[in-house]
Amino acid sequence: MKIILLGPPGAGKGTQAKRLAETLKVPHIASGDLFREHQEKNTELGRLAKSYMERGVLVPNEVTIRMILGRIESPDCSRGFVLDGFPRSIEQAQALEQALSKKKDKIDKVLFINVPEEELTRRLGGRLICRICQTPYHRESSPPKRSMLCDRCGGELYQRADDTPEAVKKRIQVYAAETAPLVEYYKREGILEEINGKGPIEQVGKALVGAVRD
Ligand code: AP5
Repeated sequence: MKIILLGPPGAGKGTQAKRLAETLKVPHIASGDLFREHQEKNTELGRLAKSYMERGVLVPNEVTIRMILGRIESPDCSRGFVLDGFPRSIEQAQALEQALSKKKDKIDKVLFINVPEEELTRRLGGRLICRICQTPYHRESSPPKRSMLCDRCGGELYQRADDTPEAVKKRIQVYAAETAPLVEYYKREGILEEINGKGPIEQVGKALVGAVRD
């Protein structure tokens, strides 16, 4: 199964992609997580990505496409993957399609998690993420069992630099301009399924698994 999770910042892509990938026993590939890992290691790519991410704008296509296409070439992706945060523009979607079609392969389903803007702002304002495994939490709706420590790996939790009100506003604008057109793009391909992302995490998760198994 080759799945894309599409949705605005804060829709729950990271939360749900981790769970869905575990259910399907395939890797979870998140472009934002990969960039943050590079930043933690202070690589050249990490330093480049940081300068874009802090402003809430997209990292240039060239480096992003190379990073993701390289990752899905790995042997652990041969049975499938869950993509989270990529593609984020028509150009990225076309690059992915071309790379897969060279191997006579294709994306099976695009799951679009739809959440109203006021809820996105509330979610991102209270989000904490793990410095090691990048699992997302929320101060109110899904707090960790131990204060500021990850339930999965015990890593330290922190607030992302791009979860400030200014950066969140910018990210939502960038989503509307660059990424939202992908909804129509994948609808035309006949592989898009829309999921109401407003309910509790468990409920949204069940809807996603149901859509994949349809
Ligand atoms: P990225 O890390 O991908 O951020 P994003 O797309 O803005 O998405 P988020 O991680 O903010 O939200 P999410 O949908 O994963 O929500 P989450 O599950 O955490 O990208 C960051 C930056 O990297 C970009 O701005 C760009 O600069 C760069 N970048 C990345 N990919 C790129 C690409 N392809 N091209 C170019 N640049 C790229 O949930 C959010 C919160 O809500 C959490 O606190 C969670 O606990 C809570 N929550 C989740 N679900 C629910 C629910 N159902 N009910 C209540 N609370 C919930």
